[in-house]
Amino acid sequence: MDSLEQLVASAVQDFDAVKDDAAALENAKAKYLGKTGQITELMKGLGKLDPEARKAQGALINAAKGRIEAALTARRDALADAQMQARLNAEAIDVSLPGRGRAGGGIHPVMRTWERVEAIFRSIGFDVADGPEIENDWTNFTALNSPENHPARSMQDTFYIEGNDSEGKPLLLRTHTSPMQVRYARSHTPPIKVIAPGRTYRVDSDATHSPMFHQVEGLWIAENISFADLKGVYLNFVKAFFETDDLQVRFRPSYFPFTEPSAEIDIAFGSGPLKGRWLEISGSGQVHPSVVRNFGLDPEKYIGFAFGSGLERLTMLRYGVSDLRLFYEGDLRFLKQFN
Ligand code: FA5
Ligand code: MG
Repeated sequence: MDSLEQLVASAVQDFDAVKDDAAALENAKAKYLGKTGQITELMKGLGKLDPEARKAQGALINAAKGRIEAALTARRDALADAQMQARLNAEAIDVSLPGRGRAGGGIHPVMRTWERVEAIFRSIGFDVADGPEIENDWTNFTALNSPENHPARSMQDTFYIEGNDSEGKPLLLRTHTSPMQVRYARSHTPPIKVIAPGRTYRVDSDATHSPMFHQVEGLWIAENISFADLKGVYLNFVKAFFETDDLQVRFRPSYFPFTEPSAEIDIAFGSGPLKGRWLEISGSGQVHPSVVRNFGLDPEKYIGFAFGSGLERLTMLRYGVSDLRLFYEGDLRFLKQFN
């Protein structure tokens, strides 16, 4: 039938006219196959025919409908293919570009020092302990013989944490690793021989001070440990750490509330980039009897020494770095030199 033939041709033409718009294709479909579409209308008209004619006419309309549906499906697929192709083109990967590669990580110079210090002290029988960076006031100060309002506290201005501990006392970022003396000694029995490396915090910032830095605490408590042992142990440590004898170590009299007598330990090299420059690396001393008592031990029986050394300072000396802020600027040109 001519008009059906035309209808199919017109549908194919309409479908082909749709370029990339899925909604337009659905509109074109409705025009022929929708509720009031032309094919649907023709179907409705069949009811008026007599059975014979209805059968013949119905078959013709169905055949036309099938061809229109096939044309629709073909157009839909073609549009989807074109869309996919466009997307693939847009996302094309240039396989000729050089790869970005994966940079090898490295150990931070201060961590290298941390590891070396642990290895050296383990080799002479020291245990290695770890403790909290958020401390309570008692352990960071009071137990170490710095009572509230004591002026020595201002030597170590710190960062306070909002809120208090369970006893209503302030919590703070530990200003030194010395509270680990208290924590460790209260949970172990003598002889006590331990180092405790870790992060510490103070309101400090210049070429030799950073607000976050690392210390390693050392503590040896027994029945007969004296200042002479401190000197021996520390000199041996320094020589092993720096792998040289070409250095001078100075025990400079000082004051810490938790040691008596007290000394700061300074180092100067006989050669190299920092030749002749004294740098303080550690505080030290014989543990004060009141502190030994706070360990839960009898100061008449137990005695010993403690030290607290700066890991950044040790690292500066070992590698000849004159400004410790370089360690924390994250500049790969600096950091790569250590790996
Ligand atoms: C103390 O912190 C004492 N707790 C050390 C101590 C331990 C004495 C046990 C006696 C017995 P001091 O404030 O001097 O002492 O610090 C010790 C070392 O930490 C310094 O010698 C220095 O090497 C390092 N240090 C201190 N402040 C900073 C800082 N802001 N940045 C980098 N290193 C620091
Ligand atoms: Mg000092």
